[in-house]
Amino acid sequence: MTEKREYRDDYPNKTLYLPGPTEVREDVIEAMAEPMFGHRMDRMTDLYTTIVEDTKEFLGTDNDVIVLTASGTEFWEATTLNLVDDGGVLCPTSGSFSERQANVAERLGKDVDRIEYEWGAAVKPEDVREALEASDDGYDAVTVVMNETSTGVRNPIEEIGDVVADYPDTYFVVDAISALGGDYVDIEAHGIDAIFTSVQKAFAMPPGLAVCVVSDDAYEREVEKDTSSWYGGFRRCIDYYDRKGQTHSTPAIPLMLAYRQQMKHMLEETHAARDERHREMAEYTREWAREHFDLFAEEGYESRTVTCIENTQGIDVADTIETVSEEYDMVFSNGYGDIGEETFRIGHMGEHTVESIEALTDAIEDVADL
Ligand SMILES: Cc1ncc(COP(=O)(O)O)c(C=O)c1O
Repeated sequence: MTEKREYRDDYPNKTLYLPGPTEVREDVIEAMAEPMFGHRMDRMTDLYTTIVEDTKEFLGTDNDVIVLTASGTEFWEATTLNLVDDGGVLCPTSGSFSERQANVAERLGKDVDRIEYEWGAAVKPEDVREALEASDDGYDAVTVVMNETSTGVRNPIEEIGDVVADYPDTYFVVDAISALGGDYVDIEAHGIDAIFTSVQKAFAMPPGLAVCVVSDDAYEREVEKDTSSWYGGFRRCIDYYDRKGQTHSTPAIPLMLAYRQQMKHMLEETHAARDERHREMAEYTREWAREHFDLFAEEGYESRTVTCIENTQGIDVADTIETVSEEYDMVFSNGYGDIGEETFRIGHMGEHTVESIEALTDAIEDVADL
């Protein structure tokens, strides 16, 4: 039984090095404190069309963009319901999130074939091709988690997309939740039909919105069928945008105000420069991890937004996290699920810099006596 623990007014500020939520700029937080307005007012159309069009510009895509009041998990359900019918879905699994995505599809009653990898390994394009070739009738969709947040693996979605593109009846669905906005991907060049993220990750916004980029083919595929998603239906969301420039139901308006403010910063920095900054942070963190510990991810497939570190020194991870939080007001993350004890994770995404990551690694060295 969970009991009420009274929320207080005196929490110290902590710098977040989690794999989301991550640090949010002060002016982005402040942008939420506007007097409220109605979601059918012209002002809402101004706000929603601004954030949708700015997102297309930032990501460099002409595909449709949906910004939905939900966490990214909603698009596991919606993309499955919208794109997968009797043909079933091929789900390579290599960590907690890809396993969960496959479980969601199963729960929704779809035929799921998995390609199972050990945690820490990356999904290989040739295995996807083999599975597609071996299937009698083909699949309706292939799903891949771009950045396995649990293991710190960045899957080669570009090459996998090029493989799936050889199967025109198969749609390519990418969970880019802990990568998009920090790790560049050319969505259209690699035939990605639906790619989605949660804004509390590399977009560096307060949590509560999810973004999905939808190809024309995926939109067309979601014909009026009983089993497509209502809330996350591509057609419903996109048609409402095309007709009214608004959302089909009441959105989290303050979060969209924050989105608008942060997207200004993102456009100013550019997608390419954000990608470069994330590569530098990842390289720094990896070097530090190799010096003191080891990396959990398969070599050559390390994530650009979250490093999963194998605790080869046997430090007390929980205690180190606690002490770093108390003494330095910085919070990083333990390992995920089955590898909770053996690993820990540093999120280097969003607005962080090599300097800010260095401040954390210095603190860990100090506390763990490295
Ligand atoms: C790869 C991946 N997929 C899905 C999720 C779930 O996202 P949300 O909690 O925003 O629904 C996460 C969250 O960490 C994630 O990292």
